[in-house]
Amino acid sequence: MTTQPGVEFRSLTIPASLDAAGSDEFREFTRVRNAVYREIADNDDDAITPEELLPQYQPSSEAIRYVWAVHRGGRMIGRAGIDFPLEEGSRAGFWLVELLREHWGVGIGSAALALVERTAREHGRTVLQSWAEHPDAPGPRLAAPTGFGSIPEDHVARFYRRHGYALEQIERESRLDLQTSADTVARLLRDAEAAAAGYRVVQWQAPTPAEYVDGYAWMKSRMSTDTPMGALEFDEEVWDADRIALHDKRVLDGGRTMLVTAAQHLATGELVAFNELTIGADATAPSHQEDTLVLKEHRGHRLGQLVKCAGLTTWRRDIAPASDRVITFNAEENRPMLDINEAIGFVPSAYHGAWKKVVE
Ligand SMILES: CC(C)(COP(=O)(O)OP(=O)(O)OC[C@H]1O[C@@H](n2cnc3c(N)ncnc32)[C@H](O)[C@@H]1OP(=O)(O)O)[C@@H](O)C(=O)NCCC(=O)NCCS
Repeated sequence: MTTQPGVEFRSLTIPASLDAAGSDEFREFTRVRNAVYREIADNDDDAITPEELLPQYQPSSEAIRYVWAVHRGGRMIGRAGIDFPLEEGSRAGFWLVELLREHWGVGIGSAALALVERTAREHGRTVLQSWAEHPDAPGPRLAAPTGFGSIPEDHVARFYRRHGYALEQIERESRLDLQTSADTVARLLRDAEAAAAGYRVVQWQAPTPAEYVDGYAWMKSRMSTDTPMGALEFDEEVWDADRIALHDKRVLDGGRTMLVTAAQHLATGELVAFNELTIGADATAPSHQEDTLVLKEHRGHRLGQLVKCAGLTTWRRDIAPASDRVITFNAEENRPMLDINEAIGFVPSAYHGAWKKVVE
């Protein structure tokens, strides 16, 4: 589809594998994705290989995904996409529009967003949400309605507001130096173990062992209900053995390693807290700390600290000794989680805005 001279949004062909026809386009798509993030963050922390990205684009029972490559003057210059979760009754659409910087400010983002929003309307989705990094800058700022955090009123913030989106939440991105934090992590692990009598740590790498599938599935489902989300709207997710298998397959097909560290309640055998650490095929790349949750009924026993510190200890010693840092994201108002991360040694490295618009 053409919107203005020389600009085209082409539906991306998802190859079955990177050896298949069409894989050159997917490789270029990945390269442009990484270049956009490098321009924004001034680092390659978010870089990913085509091999790691492709599994995320394979058709799945979790969401319908639309994705377009943005072309201008014969070159790929960005991407646009929207996901529609398949939870029953979902009203949500999660979108992104990301362009190389030299193409900002001439209406391409607005045209891409119009395509995204038209697609949402066609699917009857009315709650549109999106995230963006807002690098620190001088000048006027926008505060989150949660009361925690603010971002500069930059080009991207103006773009969202002009298109009717409101800032709902700030997410803090933080980094931990894996080597210098080792002693602190060991001390905090001992403290947590002392406070967590009645629980034990269990760990596994994807694929999830059969004995932990049900417990892990229940905890993953609570990630969609029991984390601070301001006025953002997330569907309550149903997780079962099939969904865990799909989640694990995506990790493994992308050549990634994932360590799950869980706390098990000894009296009942239930899994009640967990933490995930991942890394791609490059052993020297940054690691990522993904989901962490303590089930509501088991909060107050230092189980968050326990699973994070036990995870980081195994990670650095046995799994990713060549990775120098861990990156993680938290809601800026999530004080209990930030307290643990700050004590471990995580320091803020960037802030992201979560934006939302409700349409008729
Ligand atoms: C956010 C983003 C997609 C916006 O795209 P964009 O193409 O720069 O946006 P537009 O050009 O349509 O509109 C932005 C500005 O350009 C102006 N503009 C729009 N059409 C124009 C035209 N034809 N000529 C000149 N200026 C124009 C708009 O008035 C607007 O100005 P404002 O900042 O004063 O409000 C782009 O900056 C980007 O890729 N950012 C990084 C990724 C990101 O954060 N994405 C957010 C969603 S995931």
